[in-house]
Amino acid sequence: MAGASEDEVREFAAGLRSLLDWLQLSGPAAGNEVVALVQGTLGPAGLGQSVVARELPAFEHVNLQTALDAWSAAPGRSVEVRGVVLPPHYVGIDLQQLMTGEALPPVRLSAPAVVDLPNGPGSTLACLRLALLLVTDDDGRYVLLVQEAGEHRPTMSVEVAGLPVQRAQAVLAELDRLRRELNVYRGRLVEVTPTPSGQVALTFLDPPDLTRDDVVLPAAVLDRVERHALGVAGHRAGLRAAGQHLKRGLLLYGPPGTGKTHTVRYLLGRMGDYTRLLLTGRSLGVVGSVTELARELQPAVVVLEDVDLVAADRSFGPGGSPVLFDLLDAMDGAAPDADLLFVLTTNRADLLEPALAARPGRVDVAVQVDLPDAAARRRLLLLYGRAVPLRLTDDDVTRAVDRSEGVTASFLKELLRRAVLEALHEQDPVVAVTAGHLDRALDDLLDSTQQVTRTLLGVGAEGAVTDGDGAWPGPAPVQYGGGYRPFRAR
Ligand SMILES: Nc1ncnc2c1ncn2[C@@H]1O[C@H](COP(=O)(O)OP(=O)(O)OP(=O)(O)O)[C@@H](O)[C@H]1O
Ligand SMILES: [Mg+2]
Repeated sequence: MAGASEDEVREFAAGLRSLLDWLQLSGPAAGNEVVALVQGTLGPAGLGQSVVARELPAFEHVNLQTALDAWSAAPGRSVEVRGVVLPPHYVGIDLQQLMTGEALPPVRLSAPAVVDLPNGPGSTLACLRLALLLVTDDDGRYVLLVQEAGEHRPTMSVEVAGLPVQRAQAVLAELDRLRRELNVYRGRLVEVTPTPSGQVALTFLDPPDLTRDDVVLPAAVLDRVERHALGVAGHRAGLRAAGQHLKRGLLLYGPPGTGKTHTVRYLLGRMGDYTRLLLTGRSLGVVGSVTELARELQPAVVVLEDVDLVAADRSFGPGGSPVLFDLLDAMDGAAPDADLLFVLTTNRADLLEPALAARPGRVDVAVQVDLPDAAARRRLLLLYGRAVPLRLTDDDVTRAVDRSEGVTASFLKELLRRAVLEALHEQDPVVAVTAGHLDRALDDLLDSTQQVTRTLLGVGAEGAVTDGDGAWPGPAPVQYGGGYRPFRAR
C-alpha cells in the first residue's frame, strides 16, 4: 500500500477482518438447513467420526438402489430419506462438507429426486440421485449420502458418517454383499457400451429367439460350437472336482455374412441361466472391467464381436500395446475355475493370428464358419422362404442353388426378399413367388456390372476382391479354407 499511513493500513486490516467474520456468519453455510439436519442427526459424538466413502461405477447405480431398498427394510432399522438439491454446474458434494459447513455450495433440502433406471428387460427402478439417508439401527444414529455419477463425476458414491470407521466399513460391505446377491444384471443379456468419460454403460437386451433349425451350418460345426459353449453346464462340479478349469474361449471365424453373429445369437438364446455380456467395436476397449463383472456374475459369457476391429488399435499411455492384447490379457486374468465363456468372432482371422500365437491358451476352440455348400444353400432358401408363398419345383430350387454357388448365407436371405419384391411388381399382396421371380432376382443380384452390390452382398468372398479396373476394391484379401490355418499348432 504505497503512500498509506500505518494507521490507515491498520484500519483497512480491521475492516477486512470484520468483513470476513461477517461472511463466515452469514455466508451460505450459516443456518444451512442441510448442514443443520446432518449436524442435528449426528450430534457431537457422530460429528467426531470419520467419513467413509465408496466409489462405484455408474452402472452400479441401479444395483446400489436395489441393495439400499433391501437394507433399509431389514428388521430393527429405520431409514428416513431426504433429497438434497445442488444447483447446476456444481460437480458434487461430500458428507464432510455437510457435517462441517466448510466450502459449502448453496445446497438445500427437497423431496428426493430419482432417476428411473432399467432393472430388467421390461422394468425400471426409481433410483436416488442425491440424497441423505438418516438411519437408526443397532449401531445407533448415522447418515448415508448417495450421489449419482454425472458429466464431470465419472463414478457414483455412497458415504457413511457418524460411525466408527470399522462399523462404517461393515455397512458398506453389507451393501456390497446385497449388490452382488441381488445384482439386476445376473442371468441377463446385456450390451456393454463405452460412455464418453471412459466408463461403461449396460443396456438390457431381449434374448434372441432362434432355434437350432434357424442356424444353417454343417452339423459337425454346430455340434462343436454347442459342445464347447453349453457342454460344461452339466459337468461343472465334476470338472472342478477333477481340478479342471471351466473358463473357455471359442473363436468363430469366416467370411462376412456366413452366420457368425447369427450363431452367437442362437447360443445366447440357449444360455438362459448365464449372464451374457455383449461387446462390439469401441466397447472392446473396456473388456477389463467387463471381465471382472462377468466373474462376479458367473456363470457368464462374454461375447467379443468383430475382434479384428481392435487388432491394430493401440491403447493410450506408455507402451501402447494393442487393445487386442489387453483383451487377451483380460481373458487370461479371469479366474480359471469361474464358469466363463469368451466367444470371439472375426472375419479377419489373419489379423488375429499373430496376437493369438503370442498369447496362447486364451482360445481353446476355433471354428471356421464357411460359405454355405449346395445342401446348406438349399436349406437356407427354404428357411428364409418359410413365410413366403413359394411356388417352386424341386428343379427350380436346384437351379437357384446351382446358380448361387459361392454366395454367403445372408445373400440367400436377401435373394428371397428380392424375389418377393419381383412378385410384388405383378401382384400386391403376393400370391405366389415363382421360379421366374427367383431367376430375375438372381439375375439382378449376380449382375456382373453391379460389382459393388455383389461385394456388399458377399458373392464369393475371394472372387469379390477383384483386380479389374474400376472394380470395387473390397476389403483386403482374406484367405479362408484351402489349407489356411488360422492357428499354429502348439
Ligand atoms: N448360417 C446361417 N444360417 C442361417 N441364417 C444365416 C446364416 N448366416 C447368415 N444368416 C443370415 O444372415 C444374417 C447376417 O449374418 P451374420 O450377421 O451372422 O454374419 P456374420 O458372419 O456375423 O458376418 P460379419 O463377419 O460381417 O459380422 C443373419 O442375421 C442371418 O439372418
Ligand atoms: Mg458378425
